[in-house]
Amino acid sequence: MMLKSHGLLAAALALAGSPGAEAVLRFSCSQLVVERLDPLVFPGVFQSPHLHQVVGGNMFNVTMDPNRHNIGEEATCTTCTFSEDFSNYWTATLFFRARNGSYIRVPQRPNIGFDGARGGGMTVYYTASFMPGPVNNVKAFAPGFRMIVGNPMYRTAQEASKYRQLTFTCLDNMFTRTGETPTMPTRPCAEGIMANIRFPTCWDGKNLDSPDHESHVAYPESGMFETGGPCPASHPVRLPQLFYEVIWDTRQFNDLSLWPEDGSQPFVWSYGDFTGYGTHGDYVFGWKGDSLQRAMNANCDDCVGVLKTQSIQQANQCRQEQKVKENIDGWLSELPGKVQVTGPQPGTGPGGGNNGGGNNGGGNSGGGNSGCTVPKWGQCGGRSYTGCTTCAAGSTCRYQNDWYSQCL
Ligand SMILES: *[C@@H]1O[C@H](CO)[C@@H](O)[C@H](O)[C@H]1NC(C)=O
Ligand SMILES: *[C@@H]1O[C@H](CO)[C@@H](O)[C@H](O)[C@H]1NC(C)=O
Repeated sequence: MMLKSHGLLAAALALAGSPGAEAVLRFSCSQLVVERLDPLVFPGVFQSPHLHQVVGGNMFNVTMDPNRHNIGEEATCTTCTFSEDFSNYWTATLFFRARNGSYIRVPQRPNIGFDGARGGGMTVYYTASFMPGPVNNVKAFAPGFRMIVGNPMYRTAQEASKYRQLTFTCLDNMFTRTGETPTMPTRPCAEGIMANIRFPTCWDGKNLDSPDHESHVAYPESGMFETGGPCPASHPVRLPQLFYEVIWDTRQFNDLSLWPEDGSQPFVWSYGDFTGYGTHGDYVFGWKGDSLQRAMNANCDDCVGVLKTQSIQQANQCRQEQKVKENIDGWLSELPGKVQVTGPQPGTGPGGGNNGGGNNGGGNSGGGNSGCTVPKWGQCGGRSYTGCTTCAAGSTCRYQNDWYSQCL
């Protein structure tokens, strides 16, 4: 019991970024680019369904074929302050929806200690162990490794329960690290909303990726990574815990007179989700050589003499031009990619779907929607969806879940 509670305390300290935490790399990665690409789920697809904010190395591209490129060796700059880390880390972006139905992108802001990080970026953690004493051996990710946690289609607690530790923190101040919720905060957060994305920590030891980009990794069989929980036999290799903190600067939207008249919260993710249950993060490993393994073995925090570093100002100089040219700033009448909101949303009550109900599924509602066409990758059905249901030539409307059918 003593050990366990110490582990939790260490975890709490680590989350607060305090010295004394054990074997935690915590570092800033400035924004690389914000655009509608997703080389993991939609490789080669120009452009992906929803908007992402991306940090890390400059090999980020519409395709990142691990058989053709070794990111850690070929990238030439990174937005991360550990300058041998050319990995890419990305998440969806957040929008504010005004009462008149227009959207505007919510900016990000830097975390404690990382002032000046361009675009706010994100804070990345790699933790070898939260337990006191000798570090549990973790195996660093290998070149070509990639994974996803979370599912942008999810809109219910039951669906989201497949994942652990995908949460939001309502920042009453910049040090708030308690009260994590699986759904978006329901009240104004004085300093912003922090999205917390922790990845599974057990690997099958064989596959660098998997068709769903997640079944090659798993959560501990019992307990948590934080308490030294053992990995299941199917996924016996312990990985470092990868963790993103992304702070959405909602301060300019905190006036309740701007919020929906039914009192619900006004923020919606770029994949059309007001609930937060669809939160997700993507990772493509790209550390140079064995640098990450050396840092994990050394059990270091700032890793002086173990890892090379650069200042935030130097990291800010690495950036990419948007390859998918589109307007993502200013007031928008639709979410980028014409993403439709699905699931519960302001005005439709906690259960959502008050306007019409029913499930369009893969079917065609006919009538009122004739003459319109949904582009490939677009939404074509789902509960409470009232838009067009006819897919562009070459794609068909496929049921994904009750809330979402997509032209594929
Ligand atoms: C991205 O991919 C395109 C097409 O394959 C290539 O021409 C371009 O150089 C790549 N950009 C980067 C930054 O790797
Ligand atoms: C919608 O509301 C916002 C916030 O009040 C305002 O700035 C914007 O101009 C409005 N847009 C339209 C099209 O009325």
